Amino acid sequence: MFHGAAPYYARYRPGYPPQFFAELRKRLGLNGTQQVLDLGCGTGQIAIPLAPAAATVFAVDPDLDMLDEGKRNVAGTSNIEWLRGDSNNLRSLNLPLLDAVLMGKSFHWTDRTALVSDLDTLIQPYGAIVVVTGELHAAAAVAPWDDLVASLRVKYLGPRRRAGSGTYRRAEETHFDVLASSPFSNVETLGWQWNVERDVDAIVGLQFSYSYSNPAQFGSEERCVAFAAELRAALLDRYPTGVATEPLTIEALIATRPS
Ligand SMILES: C[S@@+](CC[C@H](N)C(=O)[O-])C[C@H]1O[C@@H](n2cnc3c(N)ncnc32)[C@H](O)[C@@H]1O
Repeated sequence: MFHGAAPYYARYRPGYPPQFFAELRKRLGLNGTQQVLDLGCGTGQIAIPLAPAAATVFAVDPDLDMLDEGKRNVAGTSNIEWLRGDSNNLRSLNLPLLDAVLMGKSFHWTDRTALVSDLDTLIQPYGAIVVVTGELHAAAAVAPWDDLVASLRVKYLGPRRRAGSGTYRRAEETHFDVLASSPFSNVETLGWQWNVERDVDAIVGLQFSYSYSNPAQFGSEERCVAFAAELRAALLDRYPTGVATEPLTIEALIATRPS
């Protein structure tokens, strides 16, 4: 799904703001003694900043390149266990009973209902599931260069949103509704908005971090280079200083069992 994306992911994905982690520590009561799972951890956007607040963070992802990039981002010893796995084989990972399970932009890749039912047996009675998306109130912030990227993406990759060797179709049932009709039916929604400054190279690199426009999707190195050159030129035309501001949003759904 993310073939070739891992180095771009580690370098260009913005991660999450400090206020998000501060709120999580408070809401989940993290004090360094908890067992936490970051499922679909990518290169560690949640696992790494959260690790100081937990006893162990199990950072699980099916993509070995993502895990390798994540490990590279951690200096020295750490309490993060990087494990290859996915939502379908959690039981085989021999995890301890968990205090919290976090999923940053990964819940949509899973069989959500089956996963939440599995998590019911893996999470402490008082524990929580946290689902994080790049949206806020059902709408994602749109980058001001989105039109430039979209037209080049159509030119190089076609009009349909790709995902691995197929295409992506968003599920009709919202994450909120899936959680609200699960054993973790007590769902609270929190949101954050912030801005990041990006230079043109970062905007180009970001495109190769997505499942729908990672390097493998282009089919050859030459086509990646051509896409990058065209996008770079279009961006410099619009932003002669070479820098632009991107608005970002995230929403976190914190789901617990009714007390
Ligand atoms: C968009 S990335 C999110 C990475 C990181 N959690 C973040 O917040 O930026 C989605 C990740 O989910 C992983 N993934 C895909 N299918 C999965 C599954 N069934 N179970 C767990 N992780 C999965 C992908 O390999 C990828 O690393």
